[in-house]
Amino acid sequence: MTYPSAVGPGAIDARRARLIEDARIGLCARVKSIPSAWFYDDRGSGLFDEITRLAEYYPTRTERAILECKAEDIVEVSGADTLVELGSGTSEKTRVLLDAMAAANVLERVILFDIAEDVLRKAACDLHSLYHVEVEAVVGDLRADLDSLGGDGNRLWAFLGSTIGNFTREERGRMLDRFARAMSDGDSLLIGVDLVKDTARLIAAYDDSGGVTAEFNLNILNVLNKEMGGDFDLSKFSHQASWNESESRIEMRLRSLDAQVVSLPEVGLEVSLEGGEEILTEISTKFTADGFSDELRDAGFDVAERWFDDAGDFAVLLARHRGERLGNGSTLPAVLPVAVR
Ligand code: SAH
Ligand code: TRP
Repeated sequence: MTYPSAVGPGAIDARRARLIEDARIGLCARVKSIPSAWFYDDRGSGLFDEITRLAEYYPTRTERAILECKAEDIVEVSGADTLVELGSGTSEKTRVLLDAMAAANVLERVILFDIAEDVLRKAACDLHSLYHVEVEAVVGDLRADLDSLGGDGNRLWAFLGSTIGNFTREERGRMLDRFARAMSDGDSLLIGVDLVKDTARLIAAYDDSGGVTAEFNLNILNVLNKEMGGDFDLSKFSHQASWNESESRIEMRLRSLDAQVVSLPEVGLEVSLEGGEEILTEISTKFTADGFSDELRDAGFDVAERWFDDAGDFAVLLARHRGERLGNGSTLPAVLPVAVR
């Protein structure tokens, strides 16, 4: 296993700098928000893992079922010998793909990319001991750092869990463009997206009866407390999940139960909240398969295959880039400004 220089003190400084920047922009805006990347400290990653096993949270088991059914096809169509996973988390579902690559005797290398360092390290170690191949773990932010991803060979880039839906249309376009520039000809992109369905089921998936999602949402305030010396009192906030029809997305917020002032002394911030004021912490876009295929096409990808579960709850798409990239002389800056949601 190799840990590139991206993992180390430099990475930690960069992470903290980005968190501070995000907190400043998000919490000082008229409509407050915190980017969802910051959910995933150790506790947050553990709570997310719990979410994936909840009865109400259908996406993980549905996507896994599609992968179990189609893994052989995916491996064959992609012709990949390297798996690159973006926002890899525990990489649990990914084992379905790795099993199929190992069974076809083509698996040479795994590269995992995530912002959550501890979970990433553990996943990399687990995969290394399971598959006995080189596993590279890269800590980075999908909103900026993909350039650091190396590796040659034929790569299958997997972006699962409908994490793409946690970004706005604009952010998704920029992200897909960044993927395209990191990918070589012959690489494939495998991407899982959650589909539009009955609103009550959607809401339940983001507001479970056991309160695990509420705890996960509130934990983002613990992250700010821990990393910036903040004094958010979690008992003064409540978890909210609602469906935004016009944007076709679930929105998660933290509602301030009273008027309060929170200080984040390490970054010199005082945040005033009115009673009932909300902080947007997550969006989870629900797609139609055609709508998302169009987004891929707009970003220069051709969709090779689309797979669904029987109920049509979730889709997994396999795409290849047409090769018309903006290139290095791109008009886009290498580090893009962080969008305020
Ligand atoms: N792929 C897994 C985990 C999904 S949860 C699954 O399908 O179940 C989303 C993962 O993406 C988390 O591990 C989180 O740490 C990571 N993540 C979220 N925002 C990110 C960002 N901006 N950059 C890098 N990783 C991010
Ligand atoms: N990618 C997951 C999703 O949109 C992330 C997620 C699941 C999530 N449950 C959540 C994010 C609850 C915040 C809160 O389904």
